[in-house]
Amino acid sequence: MANMQVDERLQHIAFIMDGNGRWAKKRGMPREYGHSVGSKTFERVVRYCGDIGIRTVTVYAFSTENWKRPEKEVQAIMGIFREYLATALKKAEDYCIHLMFLGDRSVFPENVRVLMDRLERETAHHPLTLNIAINYGGRDEIVHAVNTLIAQGKTEITEEDISANLYTAHCPPPDLIVRTGAEQRLSNFLLWQAAYAEFYFCDTLWPDMDEEAVDAAVAAFYERKRRFGGV
Ligand code: FPP
Repeated sequence: MANMQVDERLQHIAFIMDGNGRWAKKRGMPREYGHSVGSKTFERVVRYCGDIGIRTVTVYAFSTENWKRPEKEVQAIMGIFREYLATALKKAEDYCIHLMFLGDRSVFPENVRVLMDRLERETAHHPLTLNIAINYGGRDEIVHAVNTLIAQGKTEITEEDISANLYTAHCPPPDLIVRTGAEQRLSNFLLWQAAYAEFYFCDTLWPDMDEEAVDAAVAAFYERKRRFGGV
């Protein structure tokens, strides 16, 4: 059970779930095993974020660049995604989750796209928004938003126009972006939305991420002074 509660300063937390491959290799196991354990960690972390009062959680599950990985690994992650979709409605009901998917879904088969749309619609009444970024790229997202605006006949656009046409139009920008796995980069994640986010990097490999590690990230967030460009 959660021993801390966040306030309105921390409404949206986003995770770059890095380190699955290394976690598995350290155990002499294939990288796919790391993703499988990482998917359990993902569910546990999302539940805990809900318990401590966070209203939006975003996870980076698969980037537009991840297709470059070996076919076996890509298939394993897509298999985990399909398995998650199959049980997602029940889990969303149990944990009061509104599921949303960020990314270019045109690459997915029609039955998968239909299911994604349905899950978004049928869970929309729940208070905890979970954004799963899948076939997501920050640059791709901005280009997509601009092309949507062009198609609407716009010849001049504002920041608000772009924000309103991103995959994240339904939620506030992230207050905190957590990257596990000891790398310190954004890897094309939420480029536009991260403008004033706080960053937290930790050495923990994603499958080892737990409640205590989330608490540490949240505590670090509350140590920061956010000025949003002011003084
Ligand atoms: C990065 O670690 C992780 C990924 C590219 C995949 C993340 C996917 C999951 C946690 C499970 C999928 C969940 C859903 C809902 C689809 P890495 O493989 O780059 O790790 P490494 O840096 O140690 O190689």
